[in-house]
Amino acid sequence: MAQNRKMKKVAILTGGGDAPGLNSATRAVVKKSNQLGWQVLAVKNGWAGLLDGKVSELPPESVEDIGMQGGTILGTSRTNPYKEEKGPQRVKENLKKFGIDVLIAIGGEDTLGVAHKLTKEGVAIVDIPKTIDNDISETDYCIGFDTAVTRAAEAVGNLHTTAKSHSRTLVVEIMGRHAGWIALHAGLAGGAHMILIPEIPFSIDEVTKLVEERRKKGKFYNILAVSEGAKPGEKEKFVTQTGELDAFGHVRLGGVAKVLAKEIQERTGAETRSVILGHLQRSGPPTAFDRVIATRLGICAVELVEKEDYGKMVCVKGGEVNSVDIGLAVGKLKTVSPELYEMARIFFG
Ligand code: F6P
Repeated sequence: MAQNRKMKKVAILTGGGDAPGLNSATRAVVKKSNQLGWQVLAVKNGWAGLLDGKVSELPPESVEDIGMQGGTILGTSRTNPYKEEKGPQRVKENLKKFGIDVLIAIGGEDTLGVAHKLTKEGVAIVDIPKTIDNDISETDYCIGFDTAVTRAAEAVGNLHTTAKSHSRTLVVEIMGRHAGWIALHAGLAGGAHMILIPEIPFSIDEVTKLVEERRKKGKFYNILAVSEGAKPGEKEKFVTQTGELDAFGHVRLGGVAKVLAKEIQERTGAETRSVILGHLQRSGPPTAFDRVIATRLGICAVELVEKEDYGKMVCVKGGEVNSVDIGLAVGKLKTVSPELYEMARIFFG
């Protein structure tokens, strides 16, 4: 017990795409750590900050009122230390240099993948899952998802009026690289007439059939909610804007809606436009749900540090905050099941 009560120096970083709710988690980590009499340090811009030694004090006043703000006050990046010259070594040297006992890493599949590798190399880390894509395994929820769904659902719902007024088909591209959680939820909540997700390859014939059948019923407008990672079944590659890869080997997506819209118009004659929601889904203040769940996850992470229970990711299961071994959470994404997609199909048309 005495050992657990000792003063600790905790550092916190956020990596990967920003997600609304990150600041609530940061605030919770600082508040709870300060309550225990510990010092908290901020690592700037994800793993990049630990490579370059960009680490500074994170005093209590710096987190006042940040819980309601989107983005991350810590900054973020998609830097992968395992792709940098002596990367892991530099990370470890900086942890030592700043006297950091434990690192709290908040991120998605890439950031947590790095955390897992470092854990195996003996670094004390506790992880918090965040990604608007909500695709981290072993947790029902990742910070940012509710806000992204709220933004996308509002957009999908609002687009009905303009689509109807102009008798147009609108293909709405929604974020989701490998998992269609946002498109599925936003499509259902926003009344989309069809939802296309990466997990279930689509058929262009099925898409055009929907447009034609609705036309026969006197409905001359359509809203399609499409994940950026959705792909046709003919084993074609992802539709990409650029061939550029990031440090984790992901292509930059974006463009499936444009390609689909052209195809639909050519095949059906229906006037079709595309709308890319893009980073608007990650921007602005977090929903109350994201603020509260991020707060609970942040507190739980500090509680793990207090118990010196490292190599764990905090998680949400059945509404309860808990933790799992980080090794179980990385390596396999949590995707939409065929059964859930079948349920959504009831609302197509
Ligand atoms: O990982 C979250 C995410 O928002 C994905 O949905 C999307 O594909 C990607 O990030 C976009 O990344 P960036 O902001 O680097 O373009």
